[in-house]
Amino acid sequence: MGELTRRGLLVGIGAAGGAGAMYAAMGALGLAPAEQERSFTPPQAGDFTLRGRSSASVVILGAGVAGLTAAYELGKAGYDCTILEARPKAGGRSLTLRGGDRLTEAGGQAQDVRFGEGAYFNAGPGRIAPWMVTMDYCRELGVPIETFVNNNAAAYVHTNGVTVRARTARADLYGYISELLAKATDAGRLDRRLTAEDRERLLEFLRRFGDLGPKLDYDGSPRRGFLESPDIDGGVPIEGPGSLRQVLAAGTGRAITNDFGYDQATPMFQPVGGMDAIVTALLDRVGAGRVRTGIKVTKITSLADGVEVEWAGGRLKADYCVAALPPHILAKIPHNLGAQVGAALARPVPVAAGKIGLEYGRRWWELEDRIYGGVTETDLDITHIWYPSHGYHGKTGIVVGYYATEEHAELYGALTPEDRRRRALTQGKKIHGDKYRNDLLSSVSIAWERQEHIMGGWVRWPSIDSSFTLLQRPAGRVYFAGDWLTHLIAWQAGAMESARSAVTQLHQRALQSP
Ligand code: ALA
Repeated sequence: MGELTRRGLLVGIGAAGGAGAMYAAMGALGLAPAEQERSFTPPQAGDFTLRGRSSASVVILGAGVAGLTAAYELGKAGYDCTILEARPKAGGRSLTLRGGDRLTEAGGQAQDVRFGEGAYFNAGPGRIAPWMVTMDYCRELGVPIETFVNNNAAAYVHTNGVTVRARTARADLYGYISELLAKATDAGRLDRRLTAEDRERLLEFLRRFGDLGPKLDYDGSPRRGFLESPDIDGGVPIEGPGSLRQVLAAGTGRAITNDFGYDQATPMFQPVGGMDAIVTALLDRVGAGRVRTGIKVTKITSLADGVEVEWAGGRLKADYCVAALPPHILAKIPHNLGAQVGAALARPVPVAAGKIGLEYGRRWWELEDRIYGGVTETDLDITHIWYPSHGYHGKTGIVVGYYATEEHAELYGALTPEDRRRRALTQGKKIHGDKYRNDLLSSVSIAWERQEHIMGGWVRWPSIDSSFTLLQRPAGRVYFAGDWLTHLIAWQAGAMESARSAVTQLHQRALQSP
């Protein structure tokens, strides 16, 4: 049950810090508050030539979004970057699966992806908030984007065995909360907090917020939805609402706040054709020849004049290193960066995360449920069902049948791919009925905690402490980068911001070093 809110908690840290102050300052001027851009000046070739120097060499560990962003930005100033990647291909968790791909996991299970032509499944990141730097990279790299429907009133909420439309759940909760508060206000129960003027303003808002009647009762609302749509004859409203007690007991409250977060608010976006379009564009700019795949680093040595990196059968020395691997992977690589760095790298705890892509031969969610994109929230172990935000009215489509984290992800991850599918179908059928099973063409599931060289969906810091800030600074000539070093954990934006920070620090040093 806690799953429904965990993501918000995890990624919501730190977002609200300066907002109040900013609103106050801007409000005083009568202007709409604008978000402050974090300033970043990409390194430029001229930075070196102006100083009569040549740029440096950098070995980057990991060709995920952080490593690729670092290489891309450093490349603007002519740094000689080599990216060492242990996996067979670049991208890290920004993985999009298509027909013909083969997905293997630690332990040996393998799945052949059988999706039809043009179909794709974002197995990792799937949505971007407009304030995120990811959008700036999409613009700069020419990656076309489209809306990702994160909040859909027509999607469902399934809690305690009951399925209702999100719009119904919202209307009833907003309605009853408003009724309670309005009646308490009206009866003078809040008079110690409210002036007469406040009271009137609050009541006016609550009437609107809850769609209350003249006596401040919530008796349902057209907002709840219809069995037959209200066209010529006014339609047939869906039954209900139940009593306040029934509505509270249904437990829908936790399922209607997911998109309240700064990072989840609508509209959100996705690259056209698959999230890996960003990786592809970065790779294109960096030069695929700079990425050496299948290289598992076994030792990192920071020296007075550079960094040496070793692997079975090879070694490479560069002026600097950007270590853009997950911390729990880095922690296992022998290094000479000191005990404090070693201890700090061992602090973040990997979090399991998994998804299944279910390809259907018919877009029944559009045809029968009138759901065009969006997310159904559940208290089942599947946690969420995502409907595709693209390919509307096409013949087929891919639904994300579960997107689970922590213990629910571990539960699915421990199963065979067939059993994951079976379980996901059994759960989804509780909401959508037999078509959920009958119309299935193929599926593929990912358990990120079982993906080699990644071994986790993301990480959780037991606390954001001096270990976190220590690793935001270089250790010798080694700079660290990744979403795990930001307050945007589990977002590509975190990886990108962290890469920018590492690049800025490295470049300043390279310009100053003798
Ligand atoms: N960024 C992850 C998501 O949107 C946590 O689900």
